[in-house]
Amino acid sequence: MALIKIAPSILSADFARLGDEVRAIDAAGCDYVHIDVMDGHFVPNLSFGPTIIKAIRSHTKKPFDVHLMIDPAAPYLADYANAGADIITVHCEADKHLHRNLQVIRSLGKKAGVSLNPGTSVSVLEPILDDLDLILVMSVNPGFGGQKYIASQTDKIRAVRALIGNRPIELEVDGGVNADNVKMIKDAGADVVVAGSAVFSGDDYVKTIKALRTAAQ
Ligand code: DX5
Ligand code: ZN
Repeated sequence: MALIKIAPSILSADFARLGDEVRAIDAAGCDYVHIDVMDGHFVPNLSFGPTIIKAIRSHTKKPFDVHLMIDPAAPYLADYANAGADIITVHCEADKHLHRNLQVIRSLGKKAGVSLNPGTSVSVLEPILDDLDLILVMSVNPGFGGQKYIASQTDKIRAVRALIGNRPIELEVDGGVNADNVKMIKDAGADVVVAGSAVFSGDDYVKTIKALRTAAQ
């Protein structure tokens, strides 16, 4: 089986040194840079927008995995594409026109992702499977880093894996991932794990990323 991909969430980075932090996770061997965009409306927290993403774009060539926790997302998709996103993930619980959003993201030349909150059923994915490049299963309620993994989401990861079948769709899991549960999450079918506090809580990102990768094997 392929190695798990690690996407550190810069939500847990030192915002005063964001460029350096991005360079450090790149050098430490991350696969994607996970960027959590929050609007204080869809989720009860505010983070950053396209200006900050554009400012850190020159600090790494790694793919920018942009997780939009904003409602609506539709008016801003082009802004995130122009800021340097490679993958743009919208929530199925936001906006009114999920299918249209996915089409717009692909028409902007970016990979299209959809994210499901812990309380959302996988059935929402069935009509859009051929319009997706990535499915992001939230294993915490979105809004904050450092929360506890919600155990019921492991069955959902398995169900999503089965739905994907042979399609070229990546399955990413976000929230509460650490060295103790990453193997279970990978075995359930995850290709990519987001890790905020698990990576940035230590001083040595090489060590924290390696620890996650080793634990997943
Ligand atoms: C939560 C975000 C996550 C979060 C992950 O709303 O989508 O990406 O920052 O952080 P940890 O790994 O600390 O749960
Ligand atoms: Zn996220």
